[in-house]
Amino acid sequence: MVTQILGPILPIAICVFVVTLLALIVLAVLRRARAVWWLVLVAEAGVIVLIGRQWFAPREYPRLYAAQPVPAPRPLAAQVGGSGFRVGVAVSEPVLERHADLLRAEFNSVTPENATKWRRLLKDGRLGDYDFVQADRIVDGARALGLQVRGHVLVWGHLEIPDGLEETVGSAADPAGTLREAMRHHIRATLEHFRGRIGQWDVVNEPLSWTSAKMHDNIFQRTLGTDYIDHAFRCAKEADPSVALYLNEQLWEYDGARSKQFLQLLADLKRRGVPIDGIGLQGHINMLPVPSAAALRAYLDQIAALGFSVEFTEVDCRLRMFDGAADPYTAQAEAVADLVSVARAHPACHGVTFWGLSDRGNWYDELPPFSLLRPNDPYLWDDAMRPKPVHAAVARALGGGR
Ligand code: G3I
Repeated sequence: MVTQILGPILPIAICVFVVTLLALIVLAVLRRARAVWWLVLVAEAGVIVLIGRQWFAPREYPRLYAAQPVPAPRPLAAQVGGSGFRVGVAVSEPVLERHADLLRAEFNSVTPENATKWRRLLKDGRLGDYDFVQADRIVDGARALGLQVRGHVLVWGHLEIPDGLEETVGSAADPAGTLREAMRHHIRATLEHFRGRIGQWDVVNEPLSWTSAKMHDNIFQRTLGTDYIDHAFRCAKEADPSVALYLNEQLWEYDGARSKQFLQLLADLKRRGVPIDGIGLQGHINMLPVPSAAALRAYLDQIAALGFSVEFTEVDCRLRMFDGAADPYTAQAEAVADLVSVARAHPACHGVTFWGLSDRGNWYDELPPFSLLRPNDPYLWDDAMRPKPVHAAVARALGGGR
C-alpha cells in the first residue's frame, strides 16, 4: 500500500526518513532536541513499528489445492523408472519412524539430516569416543525400506564441529599435524563403521563463506588452508575407495561471484588430482531472485566440463518468497519443477534430494531471519501431510514432463 501511495518518490522518502531519524537520534543523545523534534522522532519510530509489524506478520495463503480432488498418485521415484536417478529426502529419526510407508513409496534414497554429522557421531559431541547408535537406527531403518543412504557430512567448517577440536588444535605444538590426524581418524572411523551401508558421502560441506566469494574462515581453512579439502578427500578415498565422494555447496545464484569462485575452486582441486567424484549443489531456494533454468543448465555444463558428476542434495523452496503471487503454492511448484526438470535432463546430473519431507518442523522455522518471515513451508507435503502442488509438479518434471 505504502509503495503504491508513494510510488516513484519512495526512494526520496526513505532517504529523508533515514536522515531525519539519524539527526534526531544525535540531537537526542546531545540533549539538544526541542519538544517538536521529540514528537517527530516518536512519529518516525511509530512508522518503523508499523512497517515492521506489516513486514514480519506471518502471511496466510489460501490452500486452494486442499479444496480440489486429490490427484491420482504419482509416486516420485516411480517417475524415474530404473534409470538409477536418485530421488531422495533428508530425514530425522522421528520422520523415518512416522512416515516409513510414504518414504518407501515416494523415494529411493534418504540423507540423515543431522545424525551423521561429525559432532553428532561423538559421545556428548566431544572429540573422543563415538556413539553411532542413532545414526545406525536411521541408516539401517532406511535400508530396511529398500532406500539408499547419502552420508552427510564428514567435514563442515560452519557448524557441528566437535567440542574440544579448537582447543586440541590450538594448544598443539603442531596444529596442522594435529588437525590432519583428527580429520583422518574421524573420516576413517566413520567410513569404516558405515562401510557397505552408505554409498555416497558429502566429504566437505560449504567451503565458501555464506556472504562472499571468499573461502569460509573456519578452523580447517585457518589451520591448513584450502588443502584441508584435499586432505579430507584423500583420507576418505584411502578409507573406503568404494564410496562416491562429493563436495557440497549452497549457491544462491549460478552466474555471480560466489558461483564463479566455486568453479575456480573445483578446477584447482581437479588440477591437484583431488579424488572428488561429484559435486553436491544444495539447491536451497530461499532468497529472490529464483535462479533461472538457463543459468542453472549452463552451470551444470561447466561442472560437467570439469569431469564431475552432480546431484542436487538439499532442495527446498520458501513459500513466503512468492508473497503477492496469484497463488504462492503454484509459484513454489513452478520454481522447484524448473530446477528438477534441468536436473533430470542433464546428462551429468544423477539425483535430486529434498531437504525435508513435510512443512512440519522445517529447519527454516527454527532459524532467524527465516523464522520471522513465515510461512516458510518449503517442502512437498504440508503440515497435514497433504501433497502440495509442488509434489505433482516435481513428479511431472521427474517423468520428463510427461
Ligand atoms: O537435537 C537438539 C535438541 O535436543 C535441542 O533441544 C534443540 C534446541 O537447542 O536443538 C536440537 O538440535 C538442533 C538440530 O538441528 C535438530 O533440530 C540444533 O540445535 C540445530 O543447530 C540443528 O540445525 C540443523 C543445521 O543443519 C545445523 O546442523 C538443521 O536441522 C539442518 O536442517 C541443517 O541442515 C544444513 C545442512 O546440514 C547443510 N546445508 C544447509 C542446511 C540448512 O542449514
